[in-house]
Amino acid sequence: MSADALSLRPAAHPNGFGSILMDRGPMVRVMTEPSEILREEHEVIQHLLHVLTAMAERVDRGEAVARADVDDVLEIVVKFADECHHAKEEKALFPALRLASPQEGAALVHRLEGDHEAGRHLVAAMRSESPAAESGDPKARSQFAKDARSYAALLTRHIDAETEQLFPLVERALPAKERAALADEFDRIEREETGAGVHEKYEGTIHRLADRYVHAAAHAR
Ligand SMILES: [Fe+2]
Ligand SMILES: [Fe+2]
Repeated sequence: MSADALSLRPAAHPNGFGSILMDRGPMVRVMTEPSEILREEHEVIQHLLHVLTAMAERVDRGEAVARADVDDVLEIVVKFADECHHAKEEKALFPALRLASPQEGAALVHRLEGDHEAGRHLVAAMRSESPAAESGDPKARSQFAKDARSYAALLTRHIDAETEQLFPLVERALPAKERAALADEFDRIEREETGAGVHEKYEGTIHRLADRYVHAAAHAR
């Protein structure tokens, strides 16, 4: 794989998942429920996890996976799932929930933050394994596939826990006014700390990778 293939390609599919991503401009917020914003982002992350799992399956079968595609997935995991989505939870939602629900909320937040941290370790491992895996080293390939599956399983369980436990608790424990302020804070985080347009930037890449890995695998069956 040539070095230039390591850079991210521009979005190839302007009409992607039909989610919140395409329903708003980068600076326009139409929803005020923080849980709804996070739920929409979970859908994007789930598409990404499907791609990562399909890549792991290819590696397990001894097939080649382009280094550029692995780098694209890991870049989106870091920039979108972690620096955009998890940052909103850790910098805004979790502190508010800890204050509003010092028992149940604080315990849940502690567990969810532990998942985020475990995810970061797995991402760091995948990043360090991917060059050796690309070179064909069987041990590195199998470790990469194992870590990719572990990460996808961890995030899937984590998203389920947030959907079933976190979001209902947020709506019970935080008054509507505070939830609206959190949604504004999510906007600020995305605009000032993550960079407006992150969603849009990565959506096309996820779409392209899903076509190549997830949909192609389904057709091959
Ligand atoms: Fe989370
Ligand atoms: Fe989340």
